[in-house]
Amino acid sequence: MNRSEKEGQVILSEDFGRLRKLVPENSRVVVLYDSHIETWMKQMVDPGWEVFPLEAGEDLKQWNCVEKIVETFLKRDINRSWFLIGMGGGTVCDFAGFIGSVYMRGLAFGLVPTTLLAQVDAALGGKNGIHFGCYKNIIGCTVLPRWVLCNPRVLETLPIEEFRCGLAECIKHGAIASASYFSFIKELVASCKESDTFSGKDFHQMPLPALRQLIQGSHEIKMGIVEEDLLEEGVRKALNFGHTFGHAIAARYPSMRHGQAISYGMALAAAYSVEQGRRLSAEQTRHFSAEQGLHSSAEQGLHSSVEQGLHSSAEQGLHSSVEQGLHSSVEQGLHSSVEQGLLRSGSQVFLSPAEHDELLQLLTDCGLEVTLPYPERDIIPFMLHDKKRRGAELPLVLLSRIGQYVFFKEPIILWENRARNPGVCLGVSAVRDFPDWIDRAPWVELRLDLMPALSPVALLAFRMQCMGKEHRLMLTHLGSARPAAVAFDQSVASNQPVASDQPATSDQSAQSAVPSESQALVPEVLAEVISWGVGWVDVPLEAPADYAKELMVLARQHGAQIIRSAHFWGNAGAPVGEAIATAGKAAVAAASAVPSPAELDALAKKAFSSGADFLKVAVHTRSRQESDTLLAWCDKQNTRGVQLSGQAKDSVPADGSYRVPADGRYRVTVMIMGDDALRARCHALRNGYPFVYAAPEREGATAPGQPSFEELNG
Ligand SMILES: NC(=O)c1ccc[n+]([C@@H]2O[C@H](COP(=O)([O-])OP(=O)(O)OC[C@H]3O[C@@H](n4cnc5c(N)ncnc54)[C@H](O)[C@@H]3O)[C@@H](O)[C@H]2O)c1
Repeated sequence: MNRSEKEGQVILSEDFGRLRKLVPENSRVVVLYDSHIETWMKQMVDPGWEVFPLEAGEDLKQWNCVEKIVETFLKRDINRSWFLIGMGGGTVCDFAGFIGSVYMRGLAFGLVPTTLLAQVDAALGGKNGIHFGCYKNIIGCTVLPRWVLCNPRVLETLPIEEFRCGLAECIKHGAIASASYFSFIKELVASCKESDTFSGKDFHQMPLPALRQLIQGSHEIKMGIVEEDLLEEGVRKALNFGHTFGHAIAARYPSMRHGQAISYGMALAAAYSVEQGRRLSAEQTRHFSAEQGLHSSAEQGLHSSVEQGLHSSAEQGLHSSVEQGLHSSVEQGLHSSVEQGLLRSGSQVFLSPAEHDELLQLLTDCGLEVTLPYPERDIIPFMLHDKKRRGAELPLVLLSRIGQYVFFKEPIILWENRARNPGVCLGVSAVRDFPDWIDRAPWVELRLDLMPALSPVALLAFRMQCMGKEHRLMLTHLGSARPAAVAFDQSVASNQPVASDQPATSDQSAQSAVPSESQALVPEVLAEVISWGVGWVDVPLEAPADYAKELMVLARQHGAQIIRSAHFWGNAGAPVGEAIATAGKAAVAAASAVPSPAELDALAKKAFSSGADFLKVAVHTRSRQESDTLLAWCDKQNTRGVQLSGQAKDSVPADGSYRVPADGRYRVTVMIMGDDALRARCHALRNGYPFVYAAPEREGATAPGQPSFEELNG
């Protein structure tokens, strides 16, 4: 190697003889190459070199393949005096780089990437690694190759789908760091589309100078960032734009190409950027109209924190942008950028909808998919294993505009809650529908007070159905606290006796045996099902104190978490019936009005000081404004944490899948009923409320306006 050449340098050359000049004189050379590119390999290597073909693809990046190569190298007596070359797409480069980094504590190695994706991204920057099972790139190291040699001519044979995947990474570079490079790609793609067809040959007809420029543009952006921050302590994290979502998608759907997964990931991250912008601007409006301090707006409004600043190279040369913009953004810290400058000046902190559309359009024009054909919920568990995760927060790279990134963090609990909602609420048809819904929904609420009486044999049969799934059951028995549902449109629930105007009576069913003030006993069936080891037990705040206490003790004994609930159902303008009066004073009070934030604060205090894990407030609102006030209160509680009296306990259900954080965040659910229920529950889903309830179908809803599982899960 020429000593003046820099470690990790990237060489763009169409000269097939160049490789032979790059290896150190007098060293023996071993080449790990992708078997699909043998023809190209033969044009580049010296006949005296040892060559080993590899089967490219994600399966190569597994431990067993590392073992095989190590065995082969040992047999051939390959040692540290040898020079290793990895030649192929991203999987081969990642794999060969890993072997080069760890075999005998490291061989000198160089990479010859042969896919567009590897030439513009994977082979650059020294990240080498393999997967562990379905967890992407989880074992690896950062060691720069001596050099990376990119020859655009080898892309002639690259299948068009693979070319598109490379374009996804080029677009990523433009999106995070250079509006001008982004525009260049747009024009290039448009010019390719103007050619005969868009069948796939078009990109191959791209003139070599344009292809060179495409590759060079990405090199400048990526290497500028890598030089600034090789070990990904700051600015390099921006290159993960779309990857937290993308890697999760690739882990969930292993047959998907990396570039396609990143395309979906970028589309999700862009949509999320817009969503944060909306949230921020709503907060700004609220904040400024209320003439509060910026600090409180930042604390209350965003569920998350934007940690670092912005970087723009759009107007600057790449190097200067890296030096000026990125470095200062790392130093700056996000709170300060939000608080000091951006909110005050009204600057754009997050991507505009128009720029979001522009990004998606470019991805689509490249032939990449942008709409995830699966529920986002499916990929969240994989996101939570992301190696970028730090403690209780998940960092994300979002966009502030095309050519500028913004770093963002959100509590893991918000994502966990998103992944486990909606759950389904079953009433009168619970026994019949349970087997189906316990497999479809992450959790099932059983309204025991609405279920028909179960004979001992039927109860035993039900017990068998629940086995192994008990921890996903929530038990609710409103008993005397059941709200009088004067506002509930009975016509839509005609097939079940939910929420009748009458208080439950002892002859209605065994389940709805009503504990009264004098008889503070947990109904037998409720006690029985709690003893199975259910996940959560709902203890109405309106229930008599003795009854609530007994129920909570029982729940704790059997490892269930406790939800204290309050119900405001009788407030939609209909007359409050006699039944409410007989249901008890607390129920009447609860049914009389939409609670104010101060009343809700008092409820939260009461619930959490009694030892609850969660608070649920169910309210039938009459207007969007009423709902918004309640939702804003709930968001604030979840974001900032409720003030705990110190009596609340964190308990982990049997499978350990769900954990209440010690700081008390995300413990409150406001369940809006009535005409605004669907909109409000979509808000609840997005904002990570601990429980978002759905009905199996609207017709069988156990609460007025309860949206169906399909509506919320779509
Ligand atoms: N290390 C990093 O910084 C980094 C960055 C991005 C992606 N990656 C990794 O890169 C991998 C994806 O890379 P990829 O998309 O290149 O996949 P790949 O290596 O599987 O190559 C894709 C396909 O193209 C074929 N191929 C390669 N060169 C060819 C050529 N010139 N002509 C015809 N066919 C050719 C391969 O045989 C393979 O079938 C993923 O594992 C991803 O994790 C790593």
